[in-house]
Amino acid sequence: MFSFFLAFNFPLATLLSPLGTLAQDPRDATVLRLEKMPAFFSGLNIFNTEEPCGGLNGLCVPRGYYQRHQWGKIPVFCVENATKPLVNETTYCSPYDVEVYNVSYDDCPDHPVTMCRCQNASVSISQMHHDFGKVPVRARQWIRAVKAIPDQSCNGHICINGPCLSSTSVYLHEVGHSLDVVLGSQGRCVSDTDEWRDAVLNNDTCVPDGYSEASWHENFAQNTVIAAYHHTVRNIWDAYPGNASTGISCMKGALQKTIDLTREIFVYKKGMSCDRTWTGPVTFVCMGPEARKQGLCEGVEDSNIDWAKVTGTPV
Ligand SMILES: *[C@@H]1O[C@H](CO)[C@@H](O)[C@H](O)[C@H]1NC(C)=O
Ligand SMILES: *[C@@H]1O[C@H](CO)[C@@H](O)[C@H](O)[C@H]1NC(C)=O
Ligand SMILES: *[C@@H]1O[C@H](CO)[C@@H](O)[C@H](O)[C@H]1NC(C)=O
Ligand SMILES: *[C@@H]1O[C@H](CO)[C@@H](O)[C@H](O)[C@H]1NC(C)=O
Ligand SMILES: *[C@@H]1O[C@H](CO)[C@@H](O)[C@H](O)[C@H]1NC(C)=O
Ligand SMILES: *[C@@H]1O[C@H](CO)[C@@H](O)[C@H](O)[C@H]1NC(C)=O
Repeated sequence: MFSFFLAFNFPLATLLSPLGTLAQDPRDATVLRLEKMPAFFSGLNIFNTEEPCGGLNGLCVPRGYYQRHQWGKIPVFCVENATKPLVNETTYCSPYDVEVYNVSYDDCPDHPVTMCRCQNASVSISQMHHDFGKVPVRARQWIRAVKAIPDQSCNGHICINGPCLSSTSVYLHEVGHSLDVVLGSQGRCVSDTDEWRDAVLNNDTCVPDGYSEASWHENFAQNTVIAAYHHTVRNIWDAYPGNASTGISCMKGALQKTIDLTREIFVYKKGMSCDRTWTGPVTFVCMGPEARKQGLCEGVEDSNIDWAKVTGTPV
């Protein structure tokens, strides 16, 4: 559920609240059962700083750089939510206020990620570059774009909402949505299979946290965060030992599946680099009439946004 503009004034917690679930899975019977599963943790942000071994926030960041594009053109996926107030008028970004960056890391130097940031977003591009860099390269390589407006339908995109400071778990959650697709067979999400749902509903007696009950997709993404912790920081079964009534083995069915599926992706090997890239260019459009007037939109089309919904901008 992460995508491209930072939505200012919008605490990160909003992401993890029922607000974020509005546009998700239909309320089918399995989701109703999922909602009744007990939650083991009150939230997964504890994995960011967990003692004694340090947490996800302590993961190494490869060297790299970011470079701002000239004002005027904007990737289509950054503009598509720019005019829709999500909750109220303060939570969107005018297309003219979007900064577009190439963000590159030395473990995948030829394939920069595109990041969009609203100029009044509370997270800096430097922070976004740093925190996203903590995502292991074989997971990071499945993300093409990072933006900061909440969006349930990002595919290959990450949407960041709120400060998102040193919250590696949030990036990993969003990466988890992409891995759900990538690791499924024939384009079907892992979490949409009967096998996954059976493991949770019929074999487990808890789920990671309350947000894992919001939908099957959120359920998988939250499991991905814990699997990443297991592979990069500390063995999860040792960290929360005990039987299914007392330890994390209450979620063993789903979590062990996620751990097995993500081993090659999260386990660090020296000198590891990306082994796949996005093909084809990111599609850019013109930010708006003002940019066109200034001659900064050569070679790109106008966006199809509804300017009536963009307030306070030079048209
Ligand atoms: C709009 O959203 C902002 C940011 O969450 C909040 O501070 C403000 O109170 C909201 N305004 C209304 C009218 O809901
Ligand atoms: C961003 O990266 C792409 C792909 O490597 C490249 O074609 C483009 O020129 C870069 N743009 C900027 C502004 O660095
Ligand atoms: C951020 O800028 C947008 C315009 O791009 C505006 O609508 C919004 O109210 C601003 N938000 C804050 C918190 O200043
Ligand atoms: C963002 O835009 C996409 C594509 O138009 C749409 O499917 C999605 O619902 C939008 N998200 C929000 C939060 O408005
Ligand atoms: C259910 O749990 C048992 C014992 O942990 C395990 O052997 C089995 O593979 C699990 N089944 C599923 C569908 O996850
Ligand atoms: C789980 O472990 C606790 C503490 O060791 C014990 O009291 C309880 O009986 C065990 N439950 C089961 C189902 O084995």
